[in-house]
Amino acid sequence: MFSVDVSVATASLAELDVDLLIAPAYEERVAARLGELASTAGDSALAAAPDFDGSADAAVLLYAPSGKARRLALVGLGPSGKAGRESLRRAAAAAERLAAKYGVASVGLALPPDGKEEAFAAAQALVEGYMLSAYRFARYKTAPAKKETPSLERIVVHVGTGDADEALRGAERGRILAASVAAARDLVNISPDEKSPTAFSGMVADLGARHGFSVEIWEKARIEQEGMGGLLAVNRGSQEPPTFTTMTWKPDHAPDAPPVVLVGKGVMFDTGGLSLKPTANSMDHMKADMAGAAAVVGAMTALARLDFPRHVVGLVPATDNRPGENAYVPGDVVRMHSGKTVEVLNTDAEGRMILADALSWAATYDPSLVIELSTLTGAQVVALGSEVAAVMTNDRPRPETRLQAMEEAGRRTGDLVHRLPMYPHYGELMRSEVADLQNISSRREAGSITAAKFLEHFTNYPWIHIDLAGPSFLHHALPWRPKGGTGFGVRLLVDFLHAHASE
Ligand code: BES
Ligand code: MN
Ligand code: ZN
Repeated sequence: MFSVDVSVATASLAELDVDLLIAPAYEERVAARLGELASTAGDSALAAAPDFDGSADAAVLLYAPSGKARRLALVGLGPSGKAGRESLRRAAAAAERLAAKYGVASVGLALPPDGKEEAFAAAQALVEGYMLSAYRFARYKTAPAKKETPSLERIVVHVGTGDADEALRGAERGRILAASVAAARDLVNISPDEKSPTAFSGMVADLGARHGFSVEIWEKARIEQEGMGGLLAVNRGSQEPPTFTTMTWKPDHAPDAPPVVLVGKGVMFDTGGLSLKPTANSMDHMKADMAGAAAVVGAMTALARLDFPRHVVGLVPATDNRPGENAYVPGDVVRMHSGKTVEVLNTDAEGRMILADALSWAATYDPSLVIELSTLTGAQVVALGSEVAAVMTNDRPRPETRLQAMEEAGRRTGDLVHRLPMYPHYGELMRSEVADLQNISSRREAGSITAAKFLEHFTNYPWIHIDLAGPSFLHHALPWRPKGGTGFGVRLLVDFLHAHASE
C-alpha cells in the first residue's frame, strides 16, 4: 500500500495501458459519456447502455475494450446537481469492489470531463476512494485468497480538459492520505497481543523515522515523575507498563507560533478493568480502543509527508485496562497530573482518566488549539451511529466557529462529525462527594456529554473533543471503509488543519 505509484496522463483514453480503466459518469450525461468512451471501449460501451444509468453506486464491468485497457468499469456519480467529492470516492470504490477478486495492479481513473469539482479535488477524491477501498489486512492470513491480498501498484489519473498539474498534486495528496489512513487501520487491526503500549510506541517511532516527524517515548519512571496519576491508575491492573508518546512536526519553514496539539486515546485493550465488560459486542472489539491514538499517528504521518507548513504536536497516553490483582478499584481517589482529585466509581471509564493527564500536560505547549480524539463512550454510538462522530468544544473564544470548521472538514472528507451541546448543567453530574470530580456521571443519560464535561476540567486553551467510538471500527463494510479499523479522523484532521492554516 505504501508503494503505490501515481501519475497523470493526458493522451487519449484508448492509450491507457492498465488492468482496469474506471470511467465515472453523471446520471444525466450517460449517453454522451458512453459516446465519448466508444473510442476506447468500442461498441461494448454502447451495448452496456441498457444496464448502466449513471445513478450513484451503479457499476458495470466490461471486457475486451478496444483500447489498451484490459477492463473498463463504468461507474455512476448520480445527478450532477447532488454529486460532490463523496460521489467520486464512492464511484472509485464501487469499481474497486467489482474487480476486487482479479488482482488488479494498475488502474486508470478518468476525471469526468464535465466535472463540477476542480481537477485537484476530483483527482484526490478518486485516488482516495480507490485506495481506501483497496485496503487489505492480510497480516494473519496464512493462505490469503486473491481478494484478501493487496495488489495495487500503479494509478494513472486521466485528465481530459482539466489542469494536469493540479490533478497530479491532488492525486499525490490522495495517495499520501490513503496510505496514512492505511497505517492507522493497521494499528487498530493488529492483534492485541502484539500491541502492548511499548510495542505501539515502537511502531510510532518507526513511522516517525520513515516519514520525518520526531518521536519521544516516556517510560513508566518518567510518567511517575510527571505525576500522571490517571494514566498510572488505569495501568495498575496490567502486566505491561504504560508509555507516553510525543510526536513533533516542526519544519524550518513553519512560523514561530504556538502549535496545534493533537491528543489520542491510547487504550491498547479495554477489558473494563474490575468493572469488567461482557464479551459479545463489547469487549470483543476493544483492541480498537486506541483508534483515537491511531488517528493522531496517521495524521502526523500525513502532515510530515505533505510537508505541512505549521508546528503540530501529537500526544498519546498508552496503557491497557485490565483487572490484574493490583488493579485500581471503584472508590479509589486518584491525584491527577493537573493536581485535581478524581473519585473512581467505574474502572471502565478509563479513557477520561488517561486523557485528563494528557490534556493538562498539553497546556505546557501553550497551544493555540488542542484537538483530542477518543473512543470514549458507547453513548456516542447510540446517539449518532457508526458513520458520524460526536464533536464538542469548550467555551474558549468562538466555539461556534470551531465546531463549524470541523463539521465542514467532515463534509469535505466524508469523516462526518456532528456537534453535541456542552451546557454547564451537564457538568454538575460529575461532581464527587469526596473528591473534586468523579469519573462517571451520577445519571446514565447524555453519557457522551458528561464524559466531555469531565475532560473540560483539564483544559485551559481552545479544545475540540471528538468521540469516534462508532465510526472508528465497523462491523459491516461501507463504500470505502472496510470492516474493522477505519482510520476515521486521519483525513478529517489533515483537512481541518489545512483549512485552519490558511485562515
Ligand atoms: N472504550 C469504551 C467506549 C466504547 C464503547 C468504545 C463502544 C467503542 C465502542 C470506554 O472506555 C467505556 O468503557 N466507556 C463506558 C463509560 C461508562 C462506564 C461511564 C461506556 O461508554 O459504557
Ligand atoms: Mn472502558
Ligand atoms: Zn475505553
